[in-house]
Amino acid sequence: SLDPYHVSEEFGFILPAPLAELPPYYQPWMDIAQHVTELIYSHMLRSHILKMPLLNTQLLESHRELRLAHLALGVMTMGYVWQEGEDDTVKMLPRNLAIPYCEVSQRLGLPPILTHADAILANWRKRDPQGNLELLVTLPGGDSVRGFFMVTLLVELAAVPAIKSIPLVINGVQCGDAETVTRALEEFSQAIQGMTDALKLMHVYVKPEVFYGIMRIYLSGWKDNSSMPAGLVYEGVQAEPMEYSGGSAAQSSLLHCFDELLGVKHEAMSGAFLTRMRNYMPPSHKRLIQDISLQPSLRGFVQQQACEPLTAAFQLCVTKLLALRNYHINVVSLFIIVPAARARQLRNQGNISQEETVSRAPRALEEKGTGGSDIMSFLKTVRDRTRDVFNLK
Ligand code: ALA
Repeated sequence: SLDPYHVSEEFGFILPAPLAELPPYYQPWMDIAQHVTELIYSHMLRSHILKMPLLNTQLLESHRELRLAHLALGVMTMGYVWQEGEDDTVKMLPRNLAIPYCEVSQRLGLPPILTHADAILANWRKRDPQGNLELLVTLPGGDSVRGFFMVTLLVELAAVPAIKSIPLVINGVQCGDAETVTRALEEFSQAIQGMTDALKLMHVYVKPEVFYGIMRIYLSGWKDNSSMPAGLVYEGVQAEPMEYSGGSAAQSSLLHCFDELLGVKHEAMSGAFLTRMRNYMPPSHKRLIQDISLQPSLRGFVQQQACEPLTAAFQLCVTKLLALRNYHINVVSLFIIVPAARARQLRNQGNISQEETVSRAPRALEEKGTGGSDIMSFLKTVRDRTRDVFNLK
């Protein structure tokens, strides 16, 4: 069963029914968190945060309260650091924000920076009885930020049948039941197709120039980022600066689980990045990935059974995962590589006016993912290592 991992049958890794409000004592946080975007645009966020009271986190009790607090403090932190763009960052996060943020982070086992577990998994509610969704908190980027977070959430939702099939695959391998494994793998590959279909909505709901020129900086961190080379001091927590990576799809537990199940092995550099990103996930989700990795090899089982439908089902999973990763590479081309080329072109023409949105993008993120990876070589290496498990001979 997936319950001990806080993975739900209905929602997978998504937090079911996130809270939208904290106890009234925490209203000073929510008042700022719910207006981060406007406060960034008016250059008032830093001064509001500096005036905020230092609140006691002991009144936060449930997991869902802690997750909402982590999300709210997270968007405030991203806004505080990046309010003035990459050329006017800060060395220190003030104590009224840093102390409670680190306390909440410690209780959740998450780092004190905005993560996928915050911005996507715990940042939604039903807007009406029809089930239309909306975000709890947002960042600059208007409809495109909503689109980016929501489409990412839909990818997580599309993956739920795949997550549910993982215990069936594992049990089937343990019992030597090739038929059960085959059926479960068929479910699994269909769900991956569903994830790719959901990802296609990125083109409908997100404008590349807004994503590239406005949104990305607020998702980026203070590790492997040349505009914050020294990291960030969390005042009142620790005198030395700390380094944390920005948000990344590599913080989603989905593909980590799939790779462990299918036996995909990553190379040194990309593998190290992926392993590090597991520390940016809720600890119970990280534990699920590890426990899948400890199971007897599915790929070995498929090889040893040498049974046609089982082999075909396994290979279809690999094919679908490859297609998802290839599609992701296309998305990154359109939303990062193409706008980056346009920004460079404008710069070379000496066009330093900010007429085109892409010109407002941070230089430090031109070749990098917001998580700090060298984005294209990382994605292609990971894709190529996925291909390696296809051939069972
Ligand atoms: N990781 C994504 C990016 O680099 C969000 O823009």
